[in-house]
Amino acid sequence: MSEGNSRAITTNQLGVHDKLDALVEKYKHSVNQRPIGAHTQAAFDEASEWLASGSGEIILDSCCGVGESTANLARENPDCRVIGLDKSELRVGKHAHYSAGQDNYRVIRADVNDFWRLVNQHKWQVKQHYLLYPNPYPKKTQIQKRWHASAAMPDLMAICQDVEVRSNWQIYVEEFTQAAAHYGLHGVVKPIDTTHPMTPFERKYSSSGQACWRVHLT
Ligand SMILES: C[S@@+](CC[C@H](N)C(=O)[O-])C[C@H]1O[C@@H](n2cnc3c(N)ncnc32)[C@H](O)[C@@H]1O
Repeated sequence: MSEGNSRAITTNQLGVHDKLDALVEKYKHSVNQRPIGAHTQAAFDEASEWLASGSGEIILDSCCGVGESTANLARENPDCRVIGLDKSELRVGKHAHYSAGQDNYRVIRADVNDFWRLVNQHKWQVKQHYLLYPNPYPKKTQIQKRWHASAAMPDLMAICQDVEVRSNWQIYVEEFTQAAAHYGLHGVVKPIDTTHPMTPFERKYSSSGQACWRVHLT
């Protein structure tokens, strides 16, 4: 019997959204006019300084929550520099509890909309990008809040050509995969073996008996 009490996704959308391709193309050919927030600019400058103080390929863990996955990625990739990003001060502030006790990573409070643009503008070379359990926004009318159907997608696709996306909503991962194909990235959607959960949300979904899904896009 499952122990968790996380509610399964409820949605009025039963397959890939019929407007997905049109939205992806619209944003692919638009210029993002959104001004960069001062807080994220400062966070980016600090991260750039930290990167300049050492060496190692960059791994991004966007929407990392408390940064458990960031710490794990840092431990598994000791020669890389891993940056976890989340806009929630509360979640980032809890990171110490999950710390890997090593110095090749940082968990930073930032809005990824702006951070991804700055990474793109400054041409960081990002080896791998993880997007683990982003908010799914499962109502049909919320499609443009999902990263792949938003104005942020061109930056997200430009900064790294090796992207792992996970969700407990299979349609989210299928949509992301279909959207990424507009940018020449491809992968196969697969169920996740959650025996060793990579993040708190993966643990929560799996202990509630929910399936989790992933795609590795290259
Ligand atoms: C469902 S949680 C997943 C957290 C973590 N990846 C995990 O699996 O445990 C989604 C996270 O996305 C973060 N988030 C949402 N919009 C964001 C944005 N624009 N910039 C940065 N983080 C954002 C939220 O603060 C939240 O921590």
